[in-house]
Amino acid sequence: MNLIVGATGILGSEICRLVAEKGEPVRALVRATSDPDKVARLKALKVDIVAGDLKDRRSLDAACRGVTAVVSTASSTLSRQEGDSIESVDRQGQLNLVDAADAAGVKHFVLISFPSVDIDFPLQSAKRAVEDRLRQSRMTYAILQPTFFTEVWLSPALGFDPANAKAQIYGSGLNKISWISVRDVARFAVAALTPGQEANATVQLGGPEALSPLEAVRLAEQVAGKPVAVQHVPEEALRAQHTAAADSLQRSFAGLMLYYAKGDVIDMTAALRTFPIQPLTSVRGYFQTIL
Ligand SMILES: NC(=O)c1ccc[n+]([C@@H]2O[C@H](COP(=O)([O-])OP(=O)(O)OC[C@H]3O[C@@H](n4cnc5c(N)ncnc54)[C@H](OP(=O)(O)O)[C@@H]3O)[C@@H](O)[C@H]2O)c1
Repeated sequence: MNLIVGATGILGSEICRLVAEKGEPVRALVRATSDPDKVARLKALKVDIVAGDLKDRRSLDAACRGVTAVVSTASSTLSRQEGDSIESVDRQGQLNLVDAADAAGVKHFVLISFPSVDIDFPLQSAKRAVEDRLRQSRMTYAILQPTFFTEVWLSPALGFDPANAKAQIYGSGLNKISWISVRDVARFAVAALTPGQEANATVQLGGPEALSPLEAVRLAEQVAGKPVAVQHVPEEALRAQHTAAADSLQRSFAGLMLYYAKGDVIDMTAALRTFPIQPLTSVRGYFQTIL
């Protein structure tokens, strides 16, 4: 049995779909407060639904019973309820899950994290703490560190909206990022579910090419066939936001935007040797589906 925690999220739901499609058993952890439509979509995949919350260790002990492998994609950054925070969910909640899985005799754990960056923010320290706990556990593991998701960071939700002829970008827009499609992250996660020779792997993940945000704008203009007006959030404004942040979430968002401004190019040679997933979705391919 494979347990997916974060199953109602954009990445977790895709992982559930892929694992169910392979005909392998899937148990999806959902919360009483999870969106009923998302839960219904999971039920339609014939996955086993279990109720739980990362803040409730006992619910995790029950969810892990009889499970061979766990994948955790959960995070409070976008999907939050009362009492959820970077500390209670992304740090303590994920530590609870690693401990519960280890205690229940789970054999293998796949954790979704992101690459190390020399900017201090609470989401990053939470991810590193959970990675360390997982490395110390008795389980084999794969720590996947994808860089920026195409569907999130090049989407209207974050101000990148070429369909409406505008794009907000963070910093100068000159530094390249290896944007990765969430669907490809899901494919890597499913491949990492089966421990192979590289049982304990920490793998950075990116897409097939690195493009600066301004290059992404030019590409969107080509695909949409119309000009896009660019608005920059200056790096100094992001630094000020990072320093003045009122809470961990705001400081984490500012940290992530500073990380974007810095750029992040991932060399995929080692990752593709470990997990031969091909082809990967290009930014052009993504724009062609949305524009
Ligand atoms: N976005 C990026 O560019 C990027 C890049 C690298 C890595 N990542 C990582 O990718 C992962 C997946 O992101 P995503 O976009 O799929 O996130 P998402 O759509 O916001 O999904 C988050 C999931 O976490 C669940 N969750 C939140 N708090 C919980 C709690 N207390 N107990 C149990 N479940 C809880 C949510 O459940 P409910 O539906 O019940 O709220 C939801 O299923 C995250 O770990 C993120 O850090 C993201």
